[in-house]
Amino acid sequence: MTIVGQPISRIDGRLKVTGGARYTADIPLRAVAHGAFVYSTIANGRTVSIDTADAERAPGVLAVLTHKNMPRMNPQPWSHLRPQGQTYLPLQDEQIHYAGQPVALVVAATLDQATHAGTLIKVAYETNPPAVFDLRTAKQDAVEPPQRMWPLSSSVGNADKAIASAAVKIERAFTMPDRHHNQMELHVTLAVWDDDGTLTLYDSTQMVVGTKKLASLVLSVPEEKVNVVCEFLGGGFGGKSCSWPHTLLAALASKVVKRPVRLQLTRAQMYSMAGHQPATVQTIALGANRDGKLTGIRHDSINPTSVFDPYVEYAAMASRHLWRATGGISTSHKVVHVNRNSPIMLRAPMEAQGHFALESAMDELAYATGVDPVELRLRNDTDTDPYSSRPFSTRALRECLTKGAARFGWDKRKPEPRSMRDGRYLIGQGMAAAIYTHWRWPGKARVTLNASGSALVEAAAHDIGTGTYTTMAQVAADALGLTPDKVDVRLGNTRLPESHPAIGSATAANATAAVMLAAQATRDKAIEVAITGHDAPFAGAAANDVVVADGRFTLAKTNLNITFAELLTRNGLSSLVGDGDYNPIEEVNGPKAIFSFSAVFAEVRVDPDFGLVRLNRFVGAYDAGRILNPKTARSQAIGGVIWGVGQALLEQSEIDPASGQFVNRNYSGYLVSTNADIPELDVLFVDGFDEEASPLGAKGLGELTEVSVAPAIANAVYHATGKRVRDLPITMEKLL
Ligand code: MOS
Repeated sequence: MTIVGQPISRIDGRLKVTGGARYTADIPLRAVAHGAFVYSTIANGRTVSIDTADAERAPGVLAVLTHKNMPRMNPQPWSHLRPQGQTYLPLQDEQIHYAGQPVALVVAATLDQATHAGTLIKVAYETNPPAVFDLRTAKQDAVEPPQRMWPLSSSVGNADKAIASAAVKIERAFTMPDRHHNQMELHVTLAVWDDDGTLTLYDSTQMVVGTKKLASLVLSVPEEKVNVVCEFLGGGFGGKSCSWPHTLLAALASKVVKRPVRLQLTRAQMYSMAGHQPATVQTIALGANRDGKLTGIRHDSINPTSVFDPYVEYAAMASRHLWRATGGISTSHKVVHVNRNSPIMLRAPMEAQGHFALESAMDELAYATGVDPVELRLRNDTDTDPYSSRPFSTRALRECLTKGAARFGWDKRKPEPRSMRDGRYLIGQGMAAAIYTHWRWPGKARVTLNASGSALVEAAAHDIGTGTYTTMAQVAADALGLTPDKVDVRLGNTRLPESHPAIGSATAANATAAVMLAAQATRDKAIEVAITGHDAPFAGAAANDVVVADGRFTLAKTNLNITFAELLTRNGLSSLVGDGDYNPIEEVNGPKAIFSFSAVFAEVRVDPDFGLVRLNRFVGAYDAGRILNPKTARSQAIGGVIWGVGQALLEQSEIDPASGQFVNRNYSGYLVSTNADIPELDVLFVDGFDEEASPLGAKGLGELTEVSVAPAIANAVYHATGKRVRDLPITMEKLL
């Protein structure tokens, strides 16, 4: 029986629930000093004076650092993409580009002393009015940024012509607010310099390797002298997929005070010192025949970004790939530079926002044509990626639609709005489909087989909370014929073989594929020893005849067998090491278009007097290729749906246009889904093996499950109430 595919529990579960897992802020360091930031109250201008005299005399203070005395970082610019980090570094000049920008960093013996001393600093500013993102002027203010991950605009066929001559047209604007990651674990960095000039950064990050590269570049320390460690993450959600200035500033502060420094952002500071998802204004136009078949799609998106980084939220990507449109598809993206810190990816970036527009518009098309929403999507399904004209590697969207609809009981839905009730409540049912980008990234891993018969997996990848420790153990266990309890996994340390960041829901298909290759290499070495070692139990046998199972090798068609432990010991080996180097061709250059897919179904209950929307039940059907562990996969799906409920109904970061500040900077002002918001969630996987996606057959899963939850809920709200809300979140005021 293979271990991959089994719903085994997390191997790190006990460690986590007993407090044995060390999260970054918990790591004990001797003689550690604490940093506290003082931040700008204005969003645009410069500091004229910073009076630090009282702070310097305050108890426990070791250093008060401002742009005047902070050591300079390497001004050589780097790409916003690789290594990934906000390019503007505070405390290097007197400029203020965003509210909440650090203007001073106090280092003291205790956190309280540092925070207190910070309150004694007096800052005088020269203030200019902030540029803020304004929905009314977004179109005039928008500019074309330099291209980032994908082309900014696309055009296949002639969408405008197709839409202009279509029998049915839908043209709508959709808006989504700024949102913050609001993961539980705060951003925190512990910086330690050894006597030989080696820098260790314990950093809560989704990318130890990227952080190492950026720190090396910006701090001018050779890469081999920088080590970044993050073994456990208490949530990242994309907010830790980029290095933020505090990490680099912690390293510099530690150098100044000649002690380790712990620098943890407060929750309020995370709103301006780490990233956020920018708002989007999207316009979408669909043209279709009367039978609902799409003839044209146009999708344009604008998002705000900082004045120094051109972050593009590729919201219109969804429309490039999801549906066929016979006449053409065109998309575009622009940005508006405003006074804020740099945005960054957040929980299914691009897709989650783009699908709200596309799949809401598809629901409007369903009503305009009288075609059932599931049937409409079946009619517009395609085996070929409309954007690249390549066939999809695998696309089980039809199964997701039909199996999900059956599980949900979609056939019992009455199509007319306001036609279903439960007592005084309005009941609504809505659905949406989704496509999610699959990434193929290189990664390395090492697997060591010990003379004790246990194995160790090592990679500078991460378990962001999705179960990577467990699935990697499963994959190694299968290759080595071990049970997963015999496999230890070490991740999150740049001293381990280089792997890719925990972003894009890519770890199961890529970093884990490297583990498989490494484990197979180790197994092959062991077989080699069994055949050619000085004490070779299978001397002269063919490697193909050696069966690896239950912690031992058995020679086929004989009774000969030996445990790993015995084999290694008898041959005088304490261990065997195998390396895995997974180096796939990039997806864009492959022969197939690789994406994962879903169809999701939501039922809402709306209080007609108060406009309060509750999710009643939910069914999600997912095609993410082969499911390595149904239990951790289900947990990911539940998490993703919960994010989606937040996007649909709760989350928004509000900016005060006068000051340019995010104003609701805590969990009481920024609402996220809690247990009471979430009913029983039903998820099903259309299991399959996608050989183009990964040698493990897996496609990206985690973030896929967030996508299209919001339009499914919005479509259900329309069905319940007859009100189409095109501006997230769907709050009571918008329904009253
Ligand atoms: Mo995810 S937002 O790609 O970390």
